[in-house]
Amino acid sequence: MFKATKDKSLIERPVPEHIAMIMDGNGRYAKLRNLPRIKGHYEGMQNVKRIVRHAADINLKYLTLYAFSTENWARPKSEVNYLLKLPTDFLSTFLPELIEKNVKVKTIGDFEALPKHTRKAVSTAIDKTAENTGLTLVFALNYGGRDELIGAVKDIAADISAGRLQADNIDSKTIDDYLMTKNMPDPEMIIRTSGEYRLSNFLLWQASYSELFFSNTLWPEFSTDELDDLILQYQKRERRFGGLNEEDAIDED
Ligand code: FPP
Repeated sequence: MFKATKDKSLIERPVPEHIAMIMDGNGRYAKLRNLPRIKGHYEGMQNVKRIVRHAADINLKYLTLYAFSTENWARPKSEVNYLLKLPTDFLSTFLPELIEKNVKVKTIGDFEALPKHTRKAVSTAIDKTAENTGLTLVFALNYGGRDELIGAVKDIAADISAGRLQADNIDSKTIDDYLMTKNMPDPEMIIRTSGEYRLSNFLLWQASYSELFFSNTLWPEFSTDELDDLILQYQKRERRFGGLNEEDAIDED
């Protein structure tokens, strides 16, 4: 249940367990202010702190943040280096608060291809928060939905070859279990900031029934109030998962 939020109406309805965010618009935020792009990413990182703090305060169970995609390697080297330094900078100042707030850190994505300093900072955070039981903060780092599915298909093929899995027994739950999000609920909400309307290779399997929200706000300015507002909108939407609502489901004959 939500608590400690300005918007009391959030408390009265079921809350999402898992919100995933595509944090877009750092570059435009900087450009509008005649600042270098990396300054936009720096402000984006500061906003991650505000949003994570709020997510923990309202008792969200999972927050997944798209911090670096498999496609982001195509950016100029200096920007890539800066983006991959952000987790280190973030954790060097924020880890004590994450620990204090009972937040557990996790990552999805190809971890081994990240620079050593990023891996070190993130691994330390994962270890130090392993026993925490509050919000699970998932950084999608060097993550791509297609790469994740390719990895799952390869692992499934290997397990079939080795006789550990029967092809006929594969169902939706099997796929869930071979993904990097194993044991996590699918996100009920996916939010993308900055007025772009795409999933950009984010959680392709897991997004099957997610409610999608697109905000025009640039990520560094996306506020906790706007997050509360989108959660309220989510609570008002009707989720049918391909079925009918109760009223329309009454048999007509
Ligand atoms: C897209 O904006 C954003 C990214 C590629 C990086 C997102 C990363 C953060 C917000 C900070 C991450 C923080 C931690 C702690 C890991 P863009 O650069 O494409 O913006 P633009 O479309 O306006 O150019």
